[in-house]
Amino acid sequence: MRGRRVWQDLMAVTELEKGDVTPAKLGSREFAIYDTVDGIRVSLARCTHGAANLCDGYFDGKFIECPLHQGLFDARSGEAKAAPARKSLFMIENRIIDGMIQVYI
Ligand code: FES
Repeated sequence: MRGRRVWQDLMAVTELEKGDVTPAKLGSREFAIYDTVDGIRVSLARCTHGAANLCDGYFDGKFIECPLHQGLFDARSGEAKAAPARKSLFMIENRIIDGMIQVYI
């Protein structure tokens, strides 16, 4: 069925870079998995300001800084925190089942 969302395996928790941001791919879609101080969060990897991959940015456990223009996002909520980033990240609902991070897409 077209357009129907389902839970899909993204990556095993053991493959995550601890306390950091890890890139993951599902088909042609690229994701960023953040191991935040409040748990795992997932967003689309592309910055909402331009064509940068946030997985190449600096992550401190809470905030991800874009590698291109240093826009800042709260990786826990997706909220844009510092210019030039204005639009929040597109966060992907996730869960962990049997050690596997799954995304609802
Ligand atoms: S591309 Fe990310 S802040 Fe410009």
